Amino acid sequence: MRILIPSETAAGETRVAATPETTKKFVALECSVLIEKGAGILSGFSDESYEAAGAEILSQEDQTSWASADILLCVQRPNKNSLRKVKNGCIIVGLLSPYGNKELFESLQANQLSALALELLPRISRAQSADALSSQANIAGYKSVLIGASNLDRYLPMLMTAAGTVQPAKVVVLGAGVAGLQAIATAKRLGAVVFVSDIRPAVKEQVESLGAKFIEPPELDQKPSESGGYAKEASEKFLEAQRQKLSDQLSEADLAICTAQVPGKKAPKLISNEMLERMRPGSVVVDLAVAQGGNCSGTIPSQIVERNGVKLIGASDLPCSVPNHASTLYSRNLLSLLGPMIKEGNIDLNTEDELIDASLICLNGEIRCPDSLIKEN
Ligand code: NAI
Repeated sequence: MRILIPSETAAGETRVAATPETTKKFVALECSVLIEKGAGILSGFSDESYEAAGAEILSQEDQTSWASADILLCVQRPNKNSLRKVKNGCIIVGLLSPYGNKELFESLQANQLSALALELLPRISRAQSADALSSQANIAGYKSVLIGASNLDRYLPMLMTAAGTVQPAKVVVLGAGVAGLQAIATAKRLGAVVFVSDIRPAVKEQVESLGAKFIEPPELDQKPSESGGYAKEASEKFLEAQRQKLSDQLSEADLAICTAQVPGKKAPKLISNEMLERMRPGSVVVDLAVAQGGNCSGTIPSQIVERNGVKLIGASDLPCSVPNHASTLYSRNLLSLLGPMIKEGNIDLNTEDELIDASLICLNGEIRCPDSLIKEN
């Protein structure tokens, strides 16, 4: 079986879907690994290191090898033209952005491909080592605090100096999922005082175990529910009550880190213009949910805008800013998902397996996920 690793083509993408470490393991499973020349360079992996691990290096013009691949491992979805180059039945595995992505489904159907979208893996214990959203969100949570700290006009820790004592910064983290919990841990390590808002009661204990203070969700009859480790969408009435609760906390905050999300939905708007007006000049908001519309009013992807002296940072693509570790963890996620299905160099996609059933969006051109997912935005 031939596994192809193309160079990533999306703008700003620096990661790669296999490292020399995972290449070696796929080779040990009797697979041939073909990797495009230079595919790992931006992540710090040379062609020589892949060759030493047993991979074959392809020139970027090598169309024949594309057509011979049984599996294509990617970070982001390959473009339409690339999907035309692989043979029918090839299995595309990666972060394919399936929600509302009609173009992806049309390409998969037209070229009779199979596809595993890692975004759809359930959050259950057995899936943890394959959970690419989590490995990457962890990095984003860590990096968001570093970016916030370097844009802030204050220290994060309390410092006792000869010139007197400075108080620790107050950090408010919105959303305590994977990115949020890592942001809390990082801000605590840097000495900040951390307050956290989430709508899932289950996270309170996790937040407190990291030494942060939990802001209780509003007391309303109709609380948002959760399923599969993810929150369900909150009503506008609930969000309005939540904004009122957060407004006082944010007016005293130095740094807000926004990570609240419901998969496949627009990010809940948690910081309004009125709330921003109450924040002190010099404070910073880092919005990780900016690609889903943002938790904070006025954030723009990959830009820093200032409003009344408050810096609003639309933090996109943070895992790409830590590409070596992001690729190391991501490629292990792929190996962990696929490895158990590979026997003597062949893959058996068992659709009765819970992980495969949930993430296999297309099998040989047949769409296998609900229409609602294709229409979602
Ligand atoms: P997650 O699903 O693990 O966590 C999201 C959390 O938000 C959950 O705990 C959920 O209960 C909470 N939440 C939902 N509605 C809320 C509300 N109204 N108020 C407070 N909390 C609420 O998601 P994960 O993996 O931590 O990702 C968080 C965000 O970061 C997502 O928007 C994701 O797309 C983004 N992200 C951004 C990256 C970047 O480079 N900017 C990289 C990775 C993730």
